[in-house]
Amino acid sequence: MKTILTGIKPTGTPHLGNLLGAIRPAIELTNNSDFDRSLYFIADSHALTSIRDPKEYKENVYSVAATWIALGLDLDKAILFKQSDIPEVFELTWMLQCLTPKGDMNRAHSYKAKVQQNIENKTDEDHGVNMGLYNYPILMSADILLYDTNIVPVGKDQIQHIEIARSIAQRANQLYGASCLVEPQELIQEAGAYVPGLDGRKMSKSYGNTISLWETEKKLRKLINKITTDSSAPEEPKNPDDSIIMDLYKLFARPSEIQALEKRYKEGIGWGEAKLALFEVVNEYLSGPREIYTNLMNDKTQIDKILDRGRSQAKELAEKNMKRIRKMITGF
Ligand code: TRP
Repeated sequence: MKTILTGIKPTGTPHLGNLLGAIRPAIELTNNSDFDRSLYFIADSHALTSIRDPKEYKENVYSVAATWIALGLDLDKAILFKQSDIPEVFELTWMLQCLTPKGDMNRAHSYKAKVQQNIENKTDEDHGVNMGLYNYPILMSADILLYDTNIVPVGKDQIQHIEIARSIAQRANQLYGASCLVEPQELIQEAGAYVPGLDGRKMSKSYGNTISLWETEKKLRKLINKITTDSSAPEEPKNPDDSIIMDLYKLFARPSEIQALEKRYKEGIGWGEAKLALFEVVNEYLSGPREIYTNLMNDKTQIDKILDRGRSQAKELAEKNMKRIRKMITGF
């Protein structure tokens, strides 16, 4: 039995980076017969480290669920559920916290980055760090380990978290016996691993350089027009290997289309024309899903039904596994 699992933190409307780095590869994996079980969940409790408005919290959860459904997640093959619907994950989190050296959390990238920022700003090292943020990798480990996950498709920025999950599993297995927890492996999808944002840096909400998925056609067009370009004249030949527009184009276009655009670059293409080409492939990809997404967000009872079904499927697994883990760790 091989299980894949991944989660998306609902901190805002999903963007192209989420699509290419996580959602699209994960949906493709569902159709891969090497895996018997696919679990996809909305990591809503992780979002609590930063979201303080319940309305926003709820809307984000629906938005992520609708996104996965709209982009074609096959709900007969995959289980889609909400992290916080399965209380076993919090029980396991506590057990794992008791197995994790504090120093491992001090070394976690996202915490370290926050501390570094505070040092630079000459404020207290732990300013703005809540315990949820600090323990984030442990809750994430519980997400993975609760379901006996073998493979976790994630973006590169999450590798350290999977390493932490693996090392916690190893520690538990040494202490309690090899069948306690399954040691997970990350799966990095190369094609989508680096998605440049509007300014060429990695597309990320924290850089404010994202192209969100569910913009209207008009707004999508506008955003794509904002991609940073140099001031070379339209007729000047351009290097297709050094272009944000081309990098994004490659993630959506067919090989023949890519070749054709590369040729136009070498002949000399105006940035406006290149941006239009990019808009067209992105829009073609998103226009069908956009309609499904909008319908779901206008009638959330459909999403509730899907998440309810996912909850009972995930719950069954969680109960069964937690029974085994609890017994091995506590004797009860
Ligand atoms: N930390 C992940 C992110 O920020 C989300 C996440 C939470 C996750 N739990 C997970 C991803 C378990 C994979 C497996 O995107």
